[in-house]
Amino acid sequence: MKRTFALSVLAVTLGALCAMARSFEVGETDFLLDGKPFVVRCGEVHYARIPRAYWRHRLQMLRAMGCNAVGCYMFWNFHEREKGAFTWDRRADVAAFCRMAQAEGLWVILRPGPYSCAEWEGGGAPWWLMQDDDKKKPISMRSSDPRWLVPATNWLHAVGRQLSGLQVTKGGPILMVQVENEYGLHGADVAYMRALRQAALDAGFEVPLYACNPPRVMQNGFIPELFQAANFGGDPEQRFEIVRKYQPKGPLMCAEYYPAWFDTWGQAHHPPKNDRAFFGPIDWMFAHGVSFSLYMAHGGTSFGGWSGCRNPFVPNVTSYDYEAPINENGRAKMERIAPLDVLVRREVKMERPEFMERLGQGFGLVSYERMLAPGDGGQLNVDELHDFGYVFLDGKRIGVLDRRHRGVRPRIDRSKEKNPRRLQIVVEAMGRINSSSGMEDRKGMSGRVRLDKKELKGWTARIMPLDPDGEDIQEAVAKAGRDGVPPPSAAGVAAAAADSPALYRGTLNVPDDVPADTFLDMRDWTKGIVWVNGHNLGRFWSIGPQQTLYLPGCWLRKGGNEVVVLDFFGPRAKSEIASVGKAVLDVLQPETDFNRKERQNKKCLGGEEVASGMFPSGDEAQVVMFGKGVRGNFFTLQALTTYDAKNLATIAEFDFLDKDGNPLNSLDVQITGVDSEEEIREDGVDGQVEAFWLTSSRTLPHWIEFCVPAKAEVFGFRYTPRQNKSVGRIKDWRFLAR
Ligand code: GLA
Repeated sequence: MKRTFALSVLAVTLGALCAMARSFEVGETDFLLDGKPFVVRCGEVHYARIPRAYWRHRLQMLRAMGCNAVGCYMFWNFHEREKGAFTWDRRADVAAFCRMAQAEGLWVILRPGPYSCAEWEGGGAPWWLMQDDDKKKPISMRSSDPRWLVPATNWLHAVGRQLSGLQVTKGGPILMVQVENEYGLHGADVAYMRALRQAALDAGFEVPLYACNPPRVMQNGFIPELFQAANFGGDPEQRFEIVRKYQPKGPLMCAEYYPAWFDTWGQAHHPPKNDRAFFGPIDWMFAHGVSFSLYMAHGGTSFGGWSGCRNPFVPNVTSYDYEAPINENGRAKMERIAPLDVLVRREVKMERPEFMERLGQGFGLVSYERMLAPGDGGQLNVDELHDFGYVFLDGKRIGVLDRRHRGVRPRIDRSKEKNPRRLQIVVEAMGRINSSSGMEDRKGMSGRVRLDKKELKGWTARIMPLDPDGEDIQEAVAKAGRDGVPPPSAAGVAAAAADSPALYRGTLNVPDDVPADTFLDMRDWTKGIVWVNGHNLGRFWSIGPQQTLYLPGCWLRKGGNEVVVLDFFGPRAKSEIASVGKAVLDVLQPETDFNRKERQNKKCLGGEEVASGMFPSGDEAQVVMFGKGVRGNFFTLQALTTYDAKNLATIAEFDFLDKDGNPLNSLDVQITGVDSEEEIREDGVDGQVEAFWLTSSRTLPHWIEFCVPAKAEVFGFRYTPRQNKSVGRIKDWRFLAR
């Protein structure tokens, strides 16, 4: 009897397992789920950008929208905070998120990187990759460089240990796994793509592996072993014609279709597309049985220090609302409680300033300090400063070194007094560049610091790491609360000045038993970070377009809630914070910028003509090689004529090329002069072809001047015209250098 019973239990169990184990394949014409045609209708949602208590709600909203799958990046640096130490709990419990998706009737399209982009800090790459690499041969991210590929392979293996058991073949929700992300925009090393694919296979992923790219770069790094998906915001027919050149058979899939776009500090909010522009391509994809994923279906919030940065340097805002269909959703009297001092964890002495990564620091601030002799003075110039350097002399602010405007150089007058003066440069790190190039984005200061020609050596770096999720602020506040009065130190002196960086604290009273979501109105403040009950809500900045910070109700409690603000300049009006019921994501205040963008209507300084010609009228990128190296600091593209009668000029991307035709590391390439531009639009020259730069005047010729890292040698350039629309495409052009 016992044997029969045991056998029947075994049969039922196996049966259940077989029933649960299913299949998902790329068929001749369709995706096949259990052998039957299946169309993926997916929405992108990032678990790292949503309080865990709200995951289920967002997934239910996604299901209610009619999606049958959720697409989600796994940000490598969100899980591997330190080399070899992985976090899989709380908001990092991706396995729980996948199981919850399955419970809510959603399949999962998994996007583990190792590179992700997504306007996330470093595109997902951990900062510690830059900690110990060879200064003479720095790491080359997203390449076969073993300093990238080995930890990236370990990362994918770790993902496999967490999630390979949740594949559809094992009865789980995971249908497909993406390898890398838009690699075609960055490189063309097929060995690298093959190595990552192999890592995913070795990690136990047996479901279809795929690559995604804008179709125009699909050839770069293409390997036929990976299913090819397309990313685009416009005409699907034209895009899929290109895809068919590489993938003549099988289903079609748009891996990212955009309802709008992301926002960056200081530039206009991106409104949603109008219905026709948005729904037209979706209708076409429905009608043609094309699988797609809406990027974003719910954007959420880049809490803490997790918002990234465009390249050239323009930091992304904290909100990731994206004008997605599911959007991102109390009065605290604030008192100044302490100067930055309370955040200092350790000090490091050095001959010349070192970047944060080399100091073993991933996030936050470093105050680089030294004494000046009475005779020291002149224009302050730093070789490399990423990203904002608040400069104090004996505690008084004398200016802000600004990565957006490298020409800004505060002046220090020679002192008549006998005593030495304290020079402090408090450097704030914004998110690391997340777009397809420039990710080796180190933070802090490096190289020479000079007053006119005289180099200043012998520095002390006072390290203020701000954990991206905010756990450490409690210690700093307790220290401030304990001491009450600012400790007698340079920073204590610095805090004496009203507009110096300091911590403020207040209490937000919440009457409700179950606090609801709310937004903190930061319009009375300048630039900094907010914590509520120890949760780091992210960065705020008065220049906008974001003026509020999302505060999830699940991080509040009935009664008093502690609000701490770090503001580098202090409140511009009342030292209060109100909670408001609605987000304010579209208000610009350029007049509050400590260094306004002064580059319009300047005289075109041009230089020597290097090349000239005529671009064709299409949207294909145009490469121009000079046949020799051209040295210079400033390079100007002049648009003599354009292809439309409006005489506007637009550029989607502009890359400088080395002798092999590869893009120069565009880190710190800056637009330093234009004849005119749409003031509150994107710069557009940012590694994302969907955004573009646009002149505001209609008077030809137009010109745009770029400043490249000191004395670069340029062998050519690549001009990518505005995609989707032909308005403003440049026809006759000249290229000048000086
Ligand atoms: C690209 C990337 C995404 C995101 C979007 C812009 O398509 O693949 O991660 O950065 O651009 O939001």
